[in-house]
Amino acid sequence: MIKRTLLSATIALGLATGALAAGGESHIEDFDFSFEGPFGTYDTHQLQRGLQVYTEVCASCHGLEYVYYRNLGDHGGPEMEEEQVKAYAALFETFDPEIDDFRTAVPADKFNASQFDGAPDLSLMAKARAGFHGPAGLGINQVIKGMGGPEYIASILLGYTGEEKEQAGTILYENTAFPGGWISMPPPLADDLVEFADGHDADEHHLAMDVAAFLMWTAEPKMDTRKETGFYVFVFMVFLAGLLYLTNKQLWAPHKRKN
Ligand code: HEC
Repeated sequence: MIKRTLLSATIALGLATGALAAGGESHIEDFDFSFEGPFGTYDTHQLQRGLQVYTEVCASCHGLEYVYYRNLGDHGGPEMEEEQVKAYAALFETFDPEIDDFRTAVPADKFNASQFDGAPDLSLMAKARAGFHGPAGLGINQVIKGMGGPEYIASILLGYTGEEKEQAGTILYENTAFPGGWISMPPPLADDLVEFADGHDADEHHLAMDVAAFLMWTAEPKMDTRKETGFYVFVFMVFLAGLLYLTNKQLWAPHKRKN
């Protein structure tokens, strides 16, 4: 009995500290992404713009070492043409252990690793961070709004207040989305920092959403296929349930008529 009470007390304490650590003062905005909900899919053009933002802005510090260049041509991704993928990969140098030297990258290579001390790899970031938590860390909000990884990323990019401080030789920037409130990443975005070929809006807000959507894709490249399959499985289940119902009815019909 005592053991049980102790156990539930520990769990309650764990939940409470979890909620504190998770909640903090950080504020995550609930952006509307095309891929939300059971039928949401990636917006190919948004992923292409996001790739451009990543390439021109984030890649100088952050790597994407779990993504292959050839993935850029995949169905449900940025869906670039084979030639475009080749041309994109050729912009980069990659280290080839076989020749023990750097060479021009090809579609079969991976993106580079992080270039900047302390900048984490972004391949899986959208799934490694949760933007939403429940009351008391129960995750109820996640059921309604989703995990919020891309919301977290966009909120960080837009969460700078403009305040800075120096701590142990590092400059920290105040950020309303980052847990603890101070981040060592300098504000990477500004209005019209990137120019899109299709003339799409390039204000800070759009850049943040586009790159966050792109990073959701790098973290879950097969989401469109997963949802599509899920939908067919669902339709099949409904069909099967109908068949079973009719079969059941038919099987019992003679026995029911007796009374
Ligand atoms: C000048 C280098 C630099 C650039 C450019 C840069 N970052 Fe960062 N980024 C960092 C560093 C350093 C950190 C670690 C910050 C910390 O832990 O205080 C970081 C952290 C992050 C985090 C993780 C926050 C967390 O929860 O740990 C995300 C997400 C992120 N950056 C996204 C981006 C995106 C998207 C871009 C491009 C729009 C970008 N960064 C551009 C240096 C950079």
